Order: sequence, then C-alpha cells, then structure tokens
Amino acid sequence: MMPNQQITPDEDPIRPHAYDGITEYDKRLPNWWLYTLYITIVFWVGYWSYYEWFRVGPTSAQAVSGEMAKIEAARLSTAKLDDAGLWKMSRNADFVAAGKVVFESTCAPCHLASMRGKAESAAAIGPDLTDTTWIHGGKPTEVYNLIDKGVLAKGMPTWGPVLGAKKISEVTAYIMSKHKEGEPVVIAPATP
Ligand code: HEC
Repeated sequence: MMPNQQITPDEDPIRPHAYDGITEYDKRLPNWWLYTLYITIVFWVGYWSYYEWFRVGPTSAQAVSGEMAKIEAARLSTAKLDDAGLWKMSRNADFVAAGKVVFESTCAPCHLASMRGKAESAAAIGPDLTDTTWIHGGKPTEVYNLIDKGVLAKGMPTWGPVLGAKKISEVTAYIMSKHKEGEPVVIAPATP
C-alpha cells in the first residue's frame, strides 16, 4: 500500500468498544463468505433429512456391510465352483441379488417367481426349488450342474450356453439362499 493512500471506509461504522485505544470497524461479511454459509445451511437440512430424519440413505453400518458384500462378491466370483464356494455365494447379498434378477427373467416362467413351481400352481411346469425334496440332488454343485446341462427330456432347458458360468453360479446362489447347509435332502422318485 502506498504510504499516502488513505483508507476511508465510508459506510462502515466503528464498533462501540475500544481496547487499549484500539477500535475496529463493523465490517459487513463479504458476500462469498455469507453465500458459503447459506449453502452449508441448505446442505445441512438436505443431508440431515436424507440420513437422519427420513433415513432414506444407508446408515454408516449399512454402507460398510454393503461395501464388504461387494468386496466379498468380487472375491467369490473367482472362487472355486465347489459346494463350499457355492454355499458362500448363497450367503452373499450381492450374489443372491444378481441371481434373483436372472431367476425372475429366465426361470420364473416355469418355476414361478416364488421358486415354488408346481407346489404353488398346478399350471407351473417346473418343480418346487424351495423344498428339501430334489429330483436331481440338492447339493449346490448338483444344482449348478443340473442348471448347466438341463433335463431336456423333462422340459428343463440347457442353460450353460445361454447363461455362462457366472450367471449360473449367481442363480445357483439365489436358489441355495432358500436352503441351509446340512439340511436333509430327500431324493424324489423319478416321475415317468
Ligand atoms: C421351460 C420351463 C423351464 C424353465 C424356463 C426352467 N426350468 Fe428348471 N426345470 C424345469 C422342469 C420341467 C424341471 C424338472 C426336470 C425333471 O423332472 O427331471 C426342472 C428342474 C430344475 C431343477 C432341478 C430340481 C430338482 O428337484 O432336482 C433346477 C435346480 C432348476 N430346474 C433350475 C432352473 C433354473 C435356475 C432356471 C433358469 C435359469 C430354470 N430351471 C428354468 C423346467 C424349466
């Protein structure tokens, strides 16, 4: 600042106090500062309604477990397709959700969206997949292989070439999510 330049704040009043003879102007806060404050207030109302008042957004704990499920799903997608691996997939929310999408679009016409097939409606073509009675075995690998190969003679299509390994493992996980590891498995006598 030039030494002879005078500061003349025309509108700013002097505040009433003085400390050691020092007074201060009552300066208006700059607009950029005020607008930043207003924006944070508006943001706060939105944020707080979203997460705390209406609980639309996930809580931190939900967000963490969602992320963990994603990481686990990514890890599981390279897991071996054995019984243990498929059981793990059936307990993973991401896998099961992906399998549900496949099931509802591809399998529901015959097995019904409820997966209960003939047990729910006489008009359904496919058998119940939620009970513990299986025609072709209830181990996850047996279910996987059956979906892969199909039973053409009985009207169950061969899904291997259509869906591929990833989608079959997802849909198997969705079916096994309705079952418990170690539950008794009854093999139904083959129907003619
Ligand atoms: C066109 C009708 C049809 C569609 C679509 C269909 N299925 Fe089936 N499914 C059947 C029939 C019929 C059987 C019974 C086969 C038998 O009696 O051996 C069956 C059997 C099964 C079984 C064996 C059940 C057991 O008790 O052993 C599984 C598992 C299965 N289907 C899964 C699926 C999945 C997963 C899909 C979708 C990708 C699917 N099915 C789509 C008709 C269908």
